[in-house]
Amino acid sequence: MLDKARSLITPSARSNVPPFIVMDVMAAAARIEARGGRVVHMEVGQPAASAPKTARAAAKAALDRGDIGYTEALGIPALRARIARHYADTYGVTVEAERVVVTTGSSAGFILAFLSLFEPGDRVALASPGYPPYRHILTALGCEPVLIPISAQTRWSVTVDALLSAHRRKPLKGVLVASPANPTGTMMRPEDLAALVAAAEAEGIRFISDEIYHGLDYAFPAETAAKFSDNAVIINSFSKYFCMTGWRAGWMVVPDVLVRAVERLQQNLAISVPTLSQLAACAAFDGRDEMDAVKHGYEENRRILVEGLPGAGLTRFLPVDGAFYLYADVSRFTDDSLDFAKRMLEEAGVAATPGLDFDPVHGREFVRFSYAGSAADMHEAVERIGKWLRRVE
Ligand SMILES: Cc1ncc(COP(=O)(O)O)c(C=O)c1O
Repeated sequence: MLDKARSLITPSARSNVPPFIVMDVMAAAARIEARGGRVVHMEVGQPAASAPKTARAAAKAALDRGDIGYTEALGIPALRARIARHYADTYGVTVEAERVVVTTGSSAGFILAFLSLFEPGDRVALASPGYPPYRHILTALGCEPVLIPISAQTRWSVTVDALLSAHRRKPLKGVLVASPANPTGTMMRPEDLAALVAAAEAEGIRFISDEIYHGLDYAFPAETAAKFSDNAVIINSFSKYFCMTGWRAGWMVVPDVLVRAVERLQQNLAISVPTLSQLAACAAFDGRDEMDAVKHGYEENRRILVEGLPGAGLTRFLPVDGAFYLYADVSRFTDDSLDFAKRMLEEAGVAATPGLDFDPVHGREFVRFSYAGSAADMHEAVERIGKWLRRVE
């Protein structure tokens, strides 16, 4: 029977996307904890804090009222207007509410952006290392991710030269950048972002800016690509700054000409974004003081790691500009970050993500630490890593 089913049903080639290695690290950490062991969790890019009180109160009130029906496909008008106001308040940029689309996390924003901008076979440039689902979603949709290696020479971001030379090798249809970025934690200077947006636009390359880590900027204020072009597609989320990962709420700002296409896609793919989450998201903007306090906690964590890790033996890491990631070069110890992360978990009790998740080429020499936990965890991690590296060196 099973054999018959196997011959009838095989997963499509496009569904054959690689798994998230970080999930394996989490499973291994859980096994250690089940045996009574202690693990400092620095593997997952998820805030430890809860959603703002304002958001939770709005959700409770909505539940008590009980009117949780579908909403407009583009999102509740009040939320779209509130998001538009956020651009005026935060960046001094006018964004019309009509261009704002509420999405099921930024993850759904990528699907809507790629479907509305690209045809199968289109080539889309991405920084490597980068967030794995960019390339996996593109591949599943039949597009071709074009990895542009980034390095210290380019301050770990895609430059105009790198973009144009990839475009000359074979034409690109799009480019996606993130600042602050995952896994690097680095940011693009506003003038570099402006130059890249202009260069892409001049060549007809569609620009997508993943701004999910905005609000978590420490080196300098993050700038939105919406400031530099009305043609850029902006993707953002309530998951990180607003600590609302599980609520699955995000948004896009799209060019006028894309609004109706995205609306039709959303109507068909999702009908609408969960109503409770949209109501909570609207109220989240009133909880900024609470979220700023959480951000100050990350800043303190960042200080503990930046000051402590060199003494522990991890002397080389990328500029720790924003988000809550520190990307450490471990090539002094290994050329197999998978094995390094496994041993660090088993022998030091510190869970981190091997760079291989983010970069198929150089990821063997890097490990990503998330510092979204507590300050006590950061101190403990530095101490544990130091003791372990002194033992294994
Ligand atoms: C760079 C980046 N973009 C997008 C996402 C997806 O987030 P969400 O779908 O929760 O908005 C993540 C999640 O870790 C991320 O790191």
